[in-house]
Amino acid sequence: MTTKNPPQQAGDPRIAHFNGQLLPLDQIHISPLDRGFIFGDGVYEVIPVYDGTPLRAREHFERLQRSMDEIGLRNPRSVDEWMRATDELIVHHPGNQSVYIQVTRGAPKKRDHVIPKDLEPTVFMMCYPLASPSREAIENGVACVTARDFRWEKCHIKSTSLLGNVLARQISAEAGATETIMTRNGFVTEASASNAFVVKNGIVAAPPRDNLILLGITYDLLVRLAEEGAVKVEIRPIPEAELRSADEIWLSSSTKEVLAVTTLDGKPVGSGKPGPVFKRMHALYQEHKSKLSPRRAVAA
Ligand code: PDD
Repeated sequence: MTTKNPPQQAGDPRIAHFNGQLLPLDQIHISPLDRGFIFGDGVYEVIPVYDGTPLRAREHFERLQRSMDEIGLRNPRSVDEWMRATDELIVHHPGNQSVYIQVTRGAPKKRDHVIPKDLEPTVFMMCYPLASPSREAIENGVACVTARDFRWEKCHIKSTSLLGNVLARQISAEAGATETIMTRNGFVTEASASNAFVVKNGIVAAPPRDNLILLGITYDLLVRLAEEGAVKVEIRPIPEAELRSADEIWLSSSTKEVLAVTTLDGKPVGSGKPGPVFKRMHALYQEHKSKLSPRRAVAA
């Protein structure tokens, strides 16, 4: 798919993609009946872009497809069309960016919970500067708090219905912390907008790839890089007690990359400093990024 009217000057930061067109953000108008607005009936992705090169864009669009399949939403683009639309958008946004992609079920004529047939999905894409962790956060780690996971049982869908995640994040925001790590029935699930890992005696543990977490693209990449780098990883349920006695705790996401958690509920994690396994993992991740082959976007 090629966007219909890409006449905007390259580099205009306000340019976004709306239903196949590149438009300034303030010229995009969405119906109040859109099911994304009314019901949170939509799915999304966030892709990090490093100096014009998206990281694992194909994997993000494959996950978008899985989210759509889970909610019975017809994908209006192929993965290759999504990749092209991403390239066309990032021409306008130099430097390190997050590309946000949202697809909702569309705008019917009336409000009705029942999913209408043959509705045209609403497609929206925008860019904003990538909020990478600060040097301080990488070197000293960040604070997290814990909370019960009160979300629904389909957390593997990257849904725009994020009220549970928003309320979970607010718990840490009010405590002055970076993230809220959640537990369900005594086991670690994930954080409000990132995945969680624990390390004990040099072995990394990651929660199961099930319906109770969003399977992060970064989670998968870290597991792969760890295995290639001879870091032992176990994917299994993690009891809350193990979280509280961990040597290291990490967060991962497309924006946070991998980040050490050095205090949990106000208490130091391990030594209270980012640990050796984190440092190795962080180095492996940076090395992977540095080998990204530039796939520089072409001017439309
Ligand atoms: N959040 N779990 C949740 C609940 C998330 O919202 C995210 C990402 C992740 C990590 O997924 P990934 O590694 O693919 O980014 C895990 C994004 C960044 C967001 O909503 O802004």
